[in-house]
Amino acid sequence: MSALDSILKFTTDLAEQAGEHIVELRSARKLNLDYKRGVELVTNADVAADKLITDAIRQRFPDHDIMAEESAPDLEKIKHLDKPLWIIDPIDGTVNYAHYHNQVAVSIAYAVRGQVQVGVVYSPFQAEMFTAVRGEGSWLNDQPLQCSQVNELGKAIIATGFPYEKQDKLDVLMARLRAVLGQCADMRRLGSAALDICWVAMGRLDGYYETVSPWDFAAAQLIAREAGAVCGHFIEPPEGIAQELFGENLLISNPHLYKQLKQILQSV
Ligand code: IPD
Ligand code: CA
Ligand code: CA
Repeated sequence: MSALDSILKFTTDLAEQAGEHIVELRSARKLNLDYKRGVELVTNADVAADKLITDAIRQRFPDHDIMAEESAPDLEKIKHLDKPLWIIDPIDGTVNYAHYHNQVAVSIAYAVRGQVQVGVVYSPFQAEMFTAVRGEGSWLNDQPLQCSQVNELGKAIIATGFPYEKQDKLDVLMARLRAVLGQCADMRRLGSAALDICWVAMGRLDGYYETVSPWDFAAAQLIAREAGAVCGHFIEPPEGIAQELFGENLLISNPHLYKQLKQILQSV
């Protein structure tokens, strides 16, 4: 087994364990809700899954670095890439989770020098395991993924999302929404950026744009890229920052729609 294949196996096992734990806690109705900065929902399951994943990584790879939403949310780490970096969102879709919706994922990326090598996004309520290894393709469970080939925006379904702290951004968020909605077939706000991007990878969606954090998208972006989607930014990121870990103004779509969506989003 190659080194990356063994990391993939370790990561999928871990995502599955964390997913089972998340499902159990919710089924047992053992959720405690809290708010970060007064607006951002967090549950005891987010914290428990974060600990389960980060403890296991530390034990197996004591020399690696970790960025994890609940226990190590240090965004500066995308500027210091001397060690392999694990990027973890223990529950992507916490609002869905806490409201008993099923669009929820565990997201784990393994990056070396700013390039994601292995990406795993597990949707435990739907038993869907999305995986990718750089240069080797991406899969849903054991099926290889291919993004959609829809080439008319008027027939495309596009997803986006909104930040927790949105009051001072409403005008630009609505202007982008209006511009894209005016030209595509329909839009979705499904509540998990990681799954939105995996759904672009497997063709349930044709495109996605949003501003998010590295843990929301790092794993899913590799899955989308390996499935033939184009992944970039509709506003260029600053120079000298690992592009694959920079979450502002992300645009991910099938190759036919990327240019047009980028133009629309830039025109706002
Ligand atoms: C959120 C989800 C959501 C996106 C938000 C994220 P969380 O992550 O990915 O779809 O719109 O910006 O913060 O808080 O559920 O891990
Ligand atoms: Ca998230
Ligand atoms: Ca989260």
